[in-house]
Amino acid sequence: MTVDLLLGLQWGDEGKGKIVDVLTSKYDIIARFQGGPNAGHTLEFDGIKHVLRTIPSGIFHKNSMNIIGNGVVIDPVVFIKEIEGLEKFNIDIYSRLLISRKAHLILPTHRLLDAASEAAKGKAKIGSTLKGIGPTYMDKTGRNGVRVGDIELADFKERYRALADKHEAMIKFHDVDLQYNLAELEEEFFASVEQLKKLTFIDSENYVSTALKDGKSILAEGAQGSLLDVDFGTYPFVTSSTTTAAGACTGLGVPPNKVKNVFGIFKAYTTRVGSGPFPTELSDEIGATMANVGREFGSVTGRARRCGWLDLVALKYAVEVNGVTELYMMKADVLSGFETLKICTAYKYKGEEIDHLPYNIEPENVEPIYTEVKGWKADLTGMISYEELPSELKEYITFIEKELNVPIKIVSVGPDRTQTIVK
Ligand code: GDP
Ligand code: IMO
Ligand code: MG
Repeated sequence: MTVDLLLGLQWGDEGKGKIVDVLTSKYDIIARFQGGPNAGHTLEFDGIKHVLRTIPSGIFHKNSMNIIGNGVVIDPVVFIKEIEGLEKFNIDIYSRLLISRKAHLILPTHRLLDAASEAAKGKAKIGSTLKGIGPTYMDKTGRNGVRVGDIELADFKERYRALADKHEAMIKFHDVDLQYNLAELEEEFFASVEQLKKLTFIDSENYVSTALKDGKSILAEGAQGSLLDVDFGTYPFVTSSTTTAAGACTGLGVPPNKVKNVFGIFKAYTTRVGSGPFPTELSDEIGATMANVGREFGSVTGRARRCGWLDLVALKYAVEVNGVTELYMMKADVLSGFETLKICTAYKYKGEEIDHLPYNIEPENVEPIYTEVKGWKADLTGMISYEELPSELKEYITFIEKELNVPIKIVSVGPDRTQTIVK
């Protein structure tokens, strides 16, 4: 069988968790392939809200297996807390969740290094979630990392110590005032590693390849979004992994010719949390209304998300880089009530009108050019069919489809699993 991908096309928090949960019943396996506990994927059903960090969003379905692939970075402390948080829901996590031995571990000192690095950057800080993501991927590509499989080795503690000692020297190098008690953090870390051993470690590339040969279907769940990709995002204000389609191949061991559908998910407007350029950002009342109605606060850090109009220049770029075959539009309900809506269809860049994403999108280089369309008043949150949607929203959808040349197959009208309209 084949692998389908579900990827965020903006700066993250598009609603990936909700949609993976909606789609899970169609798949045998749900797999995360990159990122780590910087992700916060929200699922709502039966009046309960769950926020998943490292565990794939298929975990609530009895018939699906969930895999954490080699491309993911795992913080045992956060991970075990996440498992404990799910225990009251009677989910058989231990038989439905498998972890790649090749996934890298986030050590307590990776988190400290993240904090020291951000503090040293001052105003130029990335706005990281401070979960140790950047330093862990640095150690991975620098060939210094400690992996899940190392836990099974006799010299795991020595490997840990050698890397943690190196990190301590690096923290001092940053010369910032960082208060911490490493002994306490290490106690918590090793206790969590002991718990982690209760889970099944696998060679995920073999598992995936066998599953495909056996005719199983796989949905790969992206974390973050395309504009946070380490290569194609708004560098350096990005995360440290490949969030785009190619990341599923390297982060799971899936050959490119096994990838079939690429589902691209986007909000009907745009949000961003953390630093970095955002051409269509609204610092006025409209942006504040979007933030309020959309409850735009980070699922991981609680920080306010910056809001702005839909940016089709950036979205088109993400569609191209990922080879998106179907689009899913989220949070359409949040736009109800605006008299008119703006859609950015081009940028003014160095005096010229362009419709592609240039190297530099800082405000001094780029000015968004908007098309204005009519808004709608109706509350969408109780609607269940495409026919019910207001004509202005249908026009909004058609406009986007024409610009991007990809069909919008799902329109989401609320956070709950049931508030999902399939076109
Ligand atoms: P993810 O990281 O892509 O999984 O997205 P997050 O969970 O971080 O953020 C999406 C937020 O929007 C969550 O609070 C969801 O419950 C919520 N959400 C998802 N879809 C909709 C929708 O269609 N309408 C509204 N109002 N909220 C939604
Ligand atoms: P999900 O999967 C939104 C942002 C951070 C920061 C930058 C780098 O929930 O969509 P990092 O911690 O990776 O060093 O932070 O990336 N960021 C996210 N923004 N959603 C996410 O994940 C994010 N993960 C990281 O805010 O700007
Ligand atoms: Mg999120």
